[in-house]
Amino acid sequence: MTTWTMKSKLKDIYRHPVGHDIIAKILLQVGRSPKWLTNPVVGNLSLQSIQTLTRGKLNQAFFQKVLNLLNGEQAIPRKDDGSMLPAWWKEAVFYQIYPRSFQDSNGDGIGDLPGIIDRLDYLQELGITAVWLSPIYDSPNDDMGYDIRNYQKIMAEFGTMADFDRLRDGLHARGMKLIMDLVVNHTSDEHPWFQKALADPSGPFGQYYFLRPGQPDTPPNNWTSFFSGSAWRWFPEQQLWGLHLFSPKQMDLNWSYPPVRDAVCHMVNWWLDRGVDGFRLDVINYIAKNPGLPAGDPLIGQLMGFTGVEEYFYGRHLHEYLRELQERSFTPHHAFSVGETPGIGMQMSKLLTGDYRHELDMVFDFDVLETPGHVRWDDYRYDLNYLRDYLADYQDHYGSHYWQALFIENHDNPRMISKANPDPQYRIAIAKLLAVIELTLRGTPFIFQGQELGRVNAQFHNIRDFQDVESINKYHELLAAGQTEQAALAVLLAGSRDHARTPMPWDTTPHGGFTTGTPWLAGDDDYRQYNAYSEMANPRSVWSTYRHLIKLRQANPVLVYGATDTVDRRRNAWSYIRRDDDHQPIQVLINLSARQKRMTIPAGGSLLYRNYPAHDGRFKAYEARVYRLPE
Ligand code: NOJ
Ligand code: CA
Repeated sequence: MTTWTMKSKLKDIYRHPVGHDIIAKILLQVGRSPKWLTNPVVGNLSLQSIQTLTRGKLNQAFFQKVLNLLNGEQAIPRKDDGSMLPAWWKEAVFYQIYPRSFQDSNGDGIGDLPGIIDRLDYLQELGITAVWLSPIYDSPNDDMGYDIRNYQKIMAEFGTMADFDRLRDGLHARGMKLIMDLVVNHTSDEHPWFQKALADPSGPFGQYYFLRPGQPDTPPNNWTSFFSGSAWRWFPEQQLWGLHLFSPKQMDLNWSYPPVRDAVCHMVNWWLDRGVDGFRLDVINYIAKNPGLPAGDPLIGQLMGFTGVEEYFYGRHLHEYLRELQERSFTPHHAFSVGETPGIGMQMSKLLTGDYRHELDMVFDFDVLETPGHVRWDDYRYDLNYLRDYLADYQDHYGSHYWQALFIENHDNPRMISKANPDPQYRIAIAKLLAVIELTLRGTPFIFQGQELGRVNAQFHNIRDFQDVESINKYHELLAAGQTEQAALAVLLAGSRDHARTPMPWDTTPHGGFTTGTPWLAGDDDYRQYNAYSEMANPRSVWSTYRHLIKLRQANPVLVYGATDTVDRRRNAWSYIRRDDDHQPIQVLINLSARQKRMTIPAGGSLLYRNYPAHDGRFKAYEARVYRLPE
């Protein structure tokens, strides 16, 4: 057993999976490259000397937290040994549906299950082989379904259990898998478990949550919520505090209490018995809060923007809980799992997903979403060179026992095209370039609805245009901090999750054919030009690119399992070759910028795809091509 102390050196800590990811995260947060660490002077610094160098600004308490995390993990990820196991989910192309915004079938302005059923042929036509549904369970919708009131009931606005069964059958009949969203870090405060816990805190449900007696002005600790303010809500009637990492209507479940784990496994088995093929597990790395709920370190809080994270993002019992869930539910059903794991980097993710560890199959690593030194609320240009570096790092270092979830968008983030370059003249080229990247690398692509149409951010004009609890809270937090309405709105326009949640545009009829009524969240007029029908009819559209590349991937196993060799990494350039022993290699060449770029075309290569009509000379703005190479 290794014990980490203040004498430990940075370069050694960087070799520890937790140390590696913490250092990488801090560097990302302060906008520095990890290359910095290869400098021997830096690498040889001990924690002690860093404390001295920072004149105690990084104090003992800060380092103690880091040491706790390091000493809490003794496992080392298994190295690449070339033994890759095949699996359906490695070969799948996933599509994430945000049901509220996909297709309304009854004119109430809210997407629903019958609406999705009507669009299954569309998904099949695109080549999709697996669907992830954001939550469809009964919910008061404080956080749009991520606050579940009843896990075994369908949200009334979305339909019925019979609709669900039809949806499942419709997918399976088309050879598509179905995964659901599993939100078990918290439930709605309206869930009967919570209601019973409140009604009788010393009764059988009292320990299902984190309820603590106390005084109205003094929350049990200093943890903050991801949706603004303290992570504790005061219940005056009961004189109790309740923990909520998200909205005050999303109460955290206490996983250290065995009946909670029993109840979750039971519910998961119920769905798996109903024919669901797996789950995406919402903030699953947050389920194991460290015993005693120790106070968060204020410095770490400042650095990360939230206080307390170090006590639950990789809690002491996390692996244990995941293994239990795997053993009791997933393994017996041969079910698939992809964890949503904010704050987890590449090395820690290996310990959550190794094919020999029996925890999760894959995780989403969110460091792909923001370039160094930026957070989602910043209005900045995303440098695609970072996307290259981030993805190439995984291609080089993930190894045979782990499998990457490839994604660029989801329902929690603005559209990537808008971040990379909002100039409309580049919209189509960038959309196609992103498709090339996501569909030609090793890993499983997760396409978020609308990505295949090249969707960009919406044009919201007023705070009333927003629906998301996170955005609305953020706005009021900014006003309270003295910002003007205009400045606060600008922050929302940069980072709001609502950009991803506007209605899916299907055709040129009002509201893009999403609804015959008034959509729950207004989009803009963009659908007149960019909608599914016109895209499908146009062989040069973004949609046709997605379809073409999905088919290409499905027809070429080298694009799934093959190794990735990076052959060009100059500034604004990226080229890689996918190869294995049995097939002709495939080479991808990309100009990552708006400026023309000279690229070396492979000799004897045959063109499989390009995002511009044929032309000679340098690569145009954001040009991407795919070639099959001679053997
Ligand atoms: C992550 C989900 O993707 C997000 O939409 C939600 O608000 C939080 N988890 C809380 O459930
Ligand atoms: Ca509806």
